[in-house]
Amino acid sequence: MGISYSEQERTFRLNTPHSTYLISIVDEAGFLCHTYYGRRVPEDDMRSLLRINAGRLPFRTSGQQAGFLDELPVEYSCGGLGDFRESCLRLETAEGCRVCGLTYVSHRIYGGKPALPGLPAAFGGEEDCATLEILCRDQYLDLEVRLLYTAFENLDAICRSARIENRGGRAIELTAALSACLDMDNRNFDLITLHGSWGYERMVSRRPLAWGKQGVSSKRGISSHQEQPFLALAEHNADQTRGQVYAMHLVYSGNFLAQAEMSQQEQVRAVIGIHPEGFGWKLDPGGSFQTPEAVLVYSHTGLGGMTHTLHDLYRNHLIRGPWRGRPRPSLVNNWEATYFDFDAEKLLDIARTAAARGVEMLVLDDGWFGCRNNDDNSLGDWFVNEKKLPGGLKYLADEINKLGMKFGLWVEPEMVSPDSQLYRAHPDYALQVPGRPPILSRTQLVLDISRKEVRDCVYDQLHKVLSSANIEYVKWDMNRALTDAASFCLDADRQGELFHRYVLGVYELQERLLRDFPNLLLENCCSGGGRFDPGMLYYSPQIWTSDNTDAIDRLLIQEGTALLYPLSAMGAHVAACPSHTNGRVTPFATRGLVSLPGCFGYELDLTRLADEELAMIPGQLENYRKYGPVFHDGDYCRLASYSENHEYDALMAVSKDKKIAVIDYIHVMSRQQRRDVLLPLWGLDEETRYRSSETGEIRSGAGWMYGGMLLPRMKGDFSGKLIVLEAV
Ligand code: DGJ
Repeated sequence: MGISYSEQERTFRLNTPHSTYLISIVDEAGFLCHTYYGRRVPEDDMRSLLRINAGRLPFRTSGQQAGFLDELPVEYSCGGLGDFRESCLRLETAEGCRVCGLTYVSHRIYGGKPALPGLPAAFGGEEDCATLEILCRDQYLDLEVRLLYTAFENLDAICRSARIENRGGRAIELTAALSACLDMDNRNFDLITLHGSWGYERMVSRRPLAWGKQGVSSKRGISSHQEQPFLALAEHNADQTRGQVYAMHLVYSGNFLAQAEMSQQEQVRAVIGIHPEGFGWKLDPGGSFQTPEAVLVYSHTGLGGMTHTLHDLYRNHLIRGPWRGRPRPSLVNNWEATYFDFDAEKLLDIARTAAARGVEMLVLDDGWFGCRNNDDNSLGDWFVNEKKLPGGLKYLADEINKLGMKFGLWVEPEMVSPDSQLYRAHPDYALQVPGRPPILSRTQLVLDISRKEVRDCVYDQLHKVLSSANIEYVKWDMNRALTDAASFCLDADRQGELFHRYVLGVYELQERLLRDFPNLLLENCCSGGGRFDPGMLYYSPQIWTSDNTDAIDRLLIQEGTALLYPLSAMGAHVAACPSHTNGRVTPFATRGLVSLPGCFGYELDLTRLADEELAMIPGQLENYRKYGPVFHDGDYCRLASYSENHEYDALMAVSKDKKIAVIDYIHVMSRQQRRDVLLPLWGLDEETRYRSSETGEIRSGAGWMYGGMLLPRMKGDFSGKLIVLEAV
């Protein structure tokens, strides 16, 4: 078991294959201190790192309690008693007091990992992981906090969360309940985050850590296009293969804060959890609150090591259901092909063209329900528009099945159009502040998914639709941020709970869907990639990456996404050209190469393609069938980044047995004087000999990695190549 407790040192030790995490109980008061996190170390006593006796006197005898607490590295920070850095736990008592201090009470260590009620979380059995629960308490408030840590046997990952329980006789209002805190000394850290906007999600940002607080957050009710619930502290010289990296990623789909703070003595406090702004949770006597889970990863092999750990954790311990680890069907989606302008015949034309070339599924996007012919009506009316689709979805799905294809359907269950039967019957179902007209976005309002009767109403409709035909895939969309966050069903002193209750409501709906349709392949989507987070991944093994389907912009979007998420999670389609997003013209073959590593599909009117483009489809699908499993299940290695060199982009996936590696190389911009590109490789087995599909050259893995691969200068911009290295 990777977790132990030393009575003598009063220290908990959490070991993963290459990392050690130490927590010590200090002083008779029982402060829970963070002693060490980093490369795995033997069973040494490391408590001197806490600097308790160096310069500062112990807590009890000191006249300097406040100064002492302000520099003590702690496990879960609280405010009001001298620690003036960010607090994980903030509260207000019935008397209006906000002071809180936690000390150790007891602990429990056991094999496996408990589920978090109502929340997505990593899972693992006794053979995979061990869990430590530390019970802390504020004796003056009768408040208990249970800190949960799970350490994985084969992965350098630790999952953390906190459960807060009111054992007293009066209500306590939580005003912040973050998931994890990590205190350490600065080591010339860079802060890495992912930022963006609609159509430009998850751009990598790296800057030196500065004094004070910095980080990313969302207050949009969704994890958002703009920021990712993630931060990494990487040594300044850390790159893909070298250097220490500490990462935090939140398994949650709503408001969040991920923040690093450098304080007076160059100590760093990184925290992650639900954003305190707009959050409140009333704990009645006996009530409890479970925070979402934070994943902590330590890598001493740079960002590549961090990426591999996250990919393996998510593929093996977060993604569930029959589609986990299974090749995902290639598909054609009609959104960019037709938008709202389709009927059954048009869809069947596309399906016939697709089926004849081997595409496995047709996905019918927005516009099949109510009277929806544009985006200003009918959300909430989940019944088929028989004018467009006579015979309903059953007829269409049957015809598509007859072609040998699967059928998938788009829905947007969390929304309502003011122009809909649902809204006319139940205007109070939408989020709104009484007396204030709610803000529209894309002419739609957000349903109050925190309410059970609203969830039931939407779910019953969905259940009926999905039972009416052979629908094997659902694309669950969500096209606006939350505003007017007030619920008719929450008391005034509980309105702060709304954002979190909304997220719990979404999780409950998706859980119900998967329970009732256990073979369903669910894809989440949020105006593209506005809710691409680990929470969503627990319900859907794949997520639509971005509404920006231009192949060159996608290089950057997919690079940022793949920093954290397995390629099998990333929806990637060959789309219409000129690009509907930015007008750029790229060759069909290049669009195919850019989409290949993800969940591959087409999103354009196949019936209007030129013959030579149509002729390329079987070859692209053959590549997906052959190499998709290497991209999806293997180790992803970022080789070159167009965002850095402004010329070319290259990624490689290496199968777990190291027998095959596939390089996806895109030449973006020609530079006049450029000779052949020398591409450094990593991630191969040094001793295995690999043959290049490009030149036939055979070299050892060491030869390819340390010598690099020469790529011939490509003619023309926006071209690409797939190169396979196979063990001989
Ligand atoms: C936003 C999605 O990201 C698109 O793929 C498409 O499904 C539209 N919504 C439909 O309204």
